[in-house]
Amino acid sequence: MKRIVSGIKPTGSLTLGNYLGAIKQFVKLQKERKNDEFFLFIADLHAITTRQVPHELRKRTLDVAAMYLACGLDKERTTLFIQSEIHEHAELGYILQSNVYMGELERMTQYKDKNDKNDTSITSSLFTYPALMAADILLYDADYVPVGDDQKQHLELTRDIAARFNNYYSNFFKVPEPLIPEVGARIMDLQNPDKKMSKSENNPKGYITLFDDEKTITKKIKSAKTDSLGVINYDPVNQKGLANLINIFASVTDLSINEIVNKYKNVGYKIFKEDLAKKLVDVLIPIQEKYHEIIKSNELHEILNKGREIANRYANLKMKKCKRKVGLGRK
Ligand code: AMP
Ligand code: TRP
Repeated sequence: MKRIVSGIKPTGSLTLGNYLGAIKQFVKLQKERKNDEFFLFIADLHAITTRQVPHELRKRTLDVAAMYLACGLDKERTTLFIQSEIHEHAELGYILQSNVYMGELERMTQYKDKNDKNDTSITSSLFTYPALMAADILLYDADYVPVGDDQKQHLELTRDIAARFNNYYSNFFKVPEPLIPEVGARIMDLQNPDKKMSKSENNPKGYITLFDDEKTITKKIKSAKTDSLGVINYDPVNQKGLANLINIFASVTDLSINEIVNKYKNVGYKIFKEDLAKKLVDVLIPIQEKYHEIIKSNELHEILNKGREIANRYANLKMKKCKRKVGLGRK
């Protein structure tokens, strides 16, 4: 039996990138791996590394939980919980901060990008964020961590931290493997295909949220930036915008890129985009209907309570052992 662990920050609205890069993969793994355990959490401690409005943060935390379930997660087989409700995340995060070097944290692109923009509001917790992320994973002895491409670097650092700790204190943490999907791992901005699709993006035309209605989805796909070549062809260098749309199509329908190119090679972008918008609507609207049912019900809190109980048991035990290893406290 393997344990699979992942999380999502409750900042902004969930995007199509989150769905195709992370959530969809998680749901698929759950269908394929009947004997494995699934831990999934809402990373609210990570969210406050940038300023959040308290009541909005709390609402979005529940929204993300409900959305996970609406996307098809099996509630019986998932330990779904809120990160801040398990205090061991922060506690282990601190210990791991003492096992990671400034130089390593400075090399993280997520931090570097902000720093390069001369952003003066970078908090110290944003800088040390990868140590907390490592704690999220190592606390549960995760075997696999399904994430999008942008988290690969953080996963590599997690592995380095685990190996370093094991080396000094003797074997203690499981060294996890990232699981990055073949298609959909990096969905790009619809208006600027050089940037990844992100919920913190200012131009809403560039991203599709999981809450967008049919009209909005169709409009955003129609106005997605392509090129003047006008031929359906998969060329991520010269036809970046189109390649991104083909990737979205492939990821949403589970068709291969070749199948899509063959099907559309003799039609223009307009028909291709109309079909893509329809496929997205067919997937996203039922998810939204489920989301509305779940968010209204009391069941969500029951699921989160149960998740907290199970996660707490694991985290508590692991943390006790960890403190003993490090020599903290009396025994
Ligand atoms: P975040 O919203 O940053 O907490 O990301 C949650 C998960 O969604 C992570 O596994 C990310 O790698 C994934 N993700 C976020 N944006 C994208 C994107 N544009 N394409 C693919 N995956 C993404
Ligand atoms: N850092 C991840 C992101 O920004 C979210 C996250 C936090 C996460 N802890 C995690 C993902 C542990 C996987 C495992 O996307």
